Amino acid sequence: MSMKPLMDGFNTNDLLFRKTQLESIEKVFERYRAEDPIATNLILIGVTGAGKTFTMEKVMAQYPEHIYISAATRKRSNQIISLISSVNVRKTDILLEQTIKFLKKEKKVLIIDELNRVEDPKDLFGDLNTIFRETGIPIILITNNPLIVNSMEEDAKNTLFLKRVIFARYNALELRDLCLQRLRELPEDLSRKMEDGTLRFICATAARSGSARKALNLLRGCYTDDKFSLDHVGILMDQEECIDFETFIQSMNETQRIFLRDLKEQYDLKLRRGEEDFLTSQDIQNARPDLHKSKISQLITEMEEKYCLIKTEWVEKGRGGGRYRKISFSNQEVLDKLEEVFPA
Ligand SMILES: Nc1ncnc2c1ncn2[C@@H]1O[C@H](COP(=O)(O)OP(=O)(O)O)[C@@H](O)[C@H]1O
Ligand SMILES: [Mg+2]
Repeated sequence: MSMKPLMDGFNTNDLLFRKTQLESIEKVFERYRAEDPIATNLILIGVTGAGKTFTMEKVMAQYPEHIYISAATRKRSNQIISLISSVNVRKTDILLEQTIKFLKKEKKVLIIDELNRVEDPKDLFGDLNTIFRETGIPIILITNNPLIVNSMEEDAKNTLFLKRVIFARYNALELRDLCLQRLRELPEDLSRKMEDGTLRFICATAARSGSARKALNLLRGCYTDDKFSLDHVGILMDQEECIDFETFIQSMNETQRIFLRDLKEQYDLKLRRGEEDFLTSQDIQNARPDLHKSKISQLITEMEEKYCLIKTEWVEKGRGGGRYRKISFSNQEVLDKLEEVFPA
């Protein structure tokens, strides 16, 4: 059956709505191609499903002089750097040296997608700083977490001088156009099946996260199950592994919700100050003097055991004795989702 136009990887579709972003990226390549090449560095920012990778792919198809790396699977800066030139050396300084040598010859634009997944962004930024100084090749970074640049040293910030390209959340009308574009690619007998009310519901729902991926997933779900009612869209939403995150958060009571927001806030604050990437009960107590110690402890347990949003670990204090609880978010995905609900 030809449901291919609904698949996520289906890539012959036109790019809608992202013309200015596309042009900003193209300019990087054009300027670098010029006789007197100028390197501009970009950071593409937008929520999951905002069309960042899709737009980038459109540009890459036109400009072969690029190296594209996704940090989704390689999460350490060393692994990412070694992918650039495919050299395989252990020692960091040699690796960087080899990579720079390689890049000087290659003269390509370096693209790193899913930057938000990198575990040691500070190190990566440091390496990119060196690479840029030594080679002058343009660098394009892609992330759904704008906060990541906070982990960059001043020096790297000043050298790389990243220009921000914003991919705003899609609204329901835009999502509708994106879906209609796909539906038009389907054979008549199939495209006819989708009800207008259902399509509107899909787009309204997906617009809450602003994600084209989400809208297309729901649309595809209807076709896969051959069911096109509003109820079925509701069922599909429930089935999604993590359900709709905002709805999930709404299902908490107010105390829990505010507590979670505070956790996220305190965590961001610590990162911004360049402190540890975990919280302690004391951090939380300082932020919420209105809560009794035992209440905080109870809320932490709920967040960990009932909602699986955080993980905690007891750490010995050392000589002074005693222990404290190290609190961090379960994984990057949780943080990304929280960022969408409680933007910094
Ligand atoms: N502007 C657009 N025009 C057409 N299709 C789009 C557009 N934006 C997103 N899509 C579709 O949505 C999917 C998810 O977008 P993607 O670029 O992967 O999001 P991101 O990289 O921002 O998380 C893409 O595979 C593509 O099929
Ligand atoms: Mg992407």
